[in-house]
Amino acid sequence: MIHKGLDNVYVKESKICYIDGEASKLFYRGYSIEELASHSTFEETTYLLIYGWLPTRSQLDQFTHQLESYRTLEPQFLDLIRKLPTKSDPMDVLRTAVSALGVYDPQPMTDDTTARINKGLMILAKVPTITAAFQRLRTGDDPIPPKGHLTHAAEFLYMLTGREPDPYDIHVMDVALILHAEHEMNASTFACTVTASTLADMYSVITSGIGTLRGPLHGGANEAALKTVLDVGDASNAESYVVDALEHKRRIMGFGHRIYKTWDPRYLILKKLAGELALKKDQTKLFDTALAIETSARKHLKGTPIFPNVDSYSGIVFHMLGIETDLFTPIFAMSRISGWTAHAIEYLEANRLIRPKALYVGKIDLPYTPIDSRGGKA
Ligand SMILES: CC(C)(COP(=O)(O)OP(=O)(O)OC[C@H]1O[C@@H](n2cnc3c(N)ncnc32)[C@H](O)[C@@H]1OP(=O)(O)O)[C@@H](O)C(=O)NCCC(=O)NCCS
Repeated sequence: MIHKGLDNVYVKESKICYIDGEASKLFYRGYSIEELASHSTFEETTYLLIYGWLPTRSQLDQFTHQLESYRTLEPQFLDLIRKLPTKSDPMDVLRTAVSALGVYDPQPMTDDTTARINKGLMILAKVPTITAAFQRLRTGDDPIPPKGHLTHAAEFLYMLTGREPDPYDIHVMDVALILHAEHEMNASTFACTVTASTLADMYSVITSGIGTLRGPLHGGANEAALKTVLDVGDASNAESYVVDALEHKRRIMGFGHRIYKTWDPRYLILKKLAGELALKKDQTKLFDTALAIETSARKHLKGTPIFPNVDSYSGIVFHMLGIETDLFTPIFAMSRISGWTAHAIEYLEANRLIRPKALYVGKIDLPYTPIDSRGGKA
C-alpha cells in the first residue's frame, strides 16, 4: 500500500498540537487557538509549545531575557549577510544564514535536550534580526540592531524601520505569530522531524524546515492570496474573477486545506484583525475586495469542503503592516521555529530513524552494456 503524500499516516504520538478539521478546532498543548490569540503572547506560546506548560511570571521573564540575549548578530555573521546578493529571495537568505549559524557554533552537535532547546531558541531569536537586516541591506540601508527590551514581534517591526512600532501593529503581529507557531505534522515540521531523527544538529533541523516551507504549496500561499486581491483590485471585479478561475480549474489562493474541511479557526481570527487594521490604516478597499472574493468563492464552492484558510487574510494583514510581500514566508518561519523545535525535541525523546520505503517498479537483472553499444535511453 502506497501512501502518496502520506495522507492520514501517523509518524508519532504527540502532545503538542491537536487539530479537528471537521469541527474548526486547533489546540496547542490543550489550549484553544482562540484562548491563546486572546490572552497569550508569542513568547508565552513558544514556551508552552516547547516545554509543555504555561510559564509562571518568573519563568516567562527568564525566557524572555534568554531570547533577548540571543537576538543580536555577531559582526562577522552580519558581514556574511552583507555579502549575499541583494536580489536574493529572503527565504534563500534565511536558509543560508541559519545554516551558517551552525558554522559559528563551536559545538553544534549535542545529545543534550537543554542544549538542543537553547540552540532552537537562539535560531528563533535571530531570525527576525536576519530578515530585517537583509531587508534593509537590499534597500541600501544599514541594518538596525535590536533595541533589546522589545518582544519578538515588536523587535522585528522596529528593526525593519528604526521607528518605535505602533502598539496596535505590535499586537496584530504578535497574534499572527501565535497563529503560525505550530500546526501538527505539516510538511516543514515533518522535514525537521526526519532530520532530527538522524541525530543531526539543530541548525540542520531548522534549515530543513526553512527549505520545505519555501515551496509555494506550503509557505508561499499567503503571498499568492494577496496578489490575487491586488490583481482583482476592486470588490466589483471579484465575482467575474472567481467564476473565470473556477471555470478554468485555477485554484483560489487562500482557500482549501488538507486537514480543515470547514472554517480554519486561524482564518476567523485573522479576518477580524484584518478588518480592524483596514479601518485603522485606511485600506478598506483592499479588505472589501478580499471580502468580495471570499463571498463569491463561498457561493461558487458551496457544497464542497473548500473553505478559506489562514492564508486568505494573513498576507493582507502583513501588507497593511507595511511589510514587503516576499518577507511573508520568513515571518512564517520566525514563528514556526517554535513548533519545529518542539516537535524535534518530542520526537527525540523516543527516537527512531525515519526511513520509509519506495515500492520498486523498475527492471532488474539487466545485462551491463559496454559504452560504445548503448542506445542512450532506458
Ligand atoms: C491547500 C491545498 C493544496 C489542499 O488540497 P487537498 O486537500 O490536497 O485537495 P486537492 O488538491 O486534492 O483538491 C481537491 C479538489 O478541490 C479543489 N480545490 C482545492 N483547493 C481549491 C481552491 N483553493 N480553489 C479551487 N478549487 C480547489 C481541487 O481542484 C480538487 O478538485 P477536483 O477533485 O475537481 O480536481 C489546496 O486546497 C490548494 O491548493 N489551495 C490553494 C493554496 C492555498 O491556499 N494553500 C494554503 C494552505 S494553508
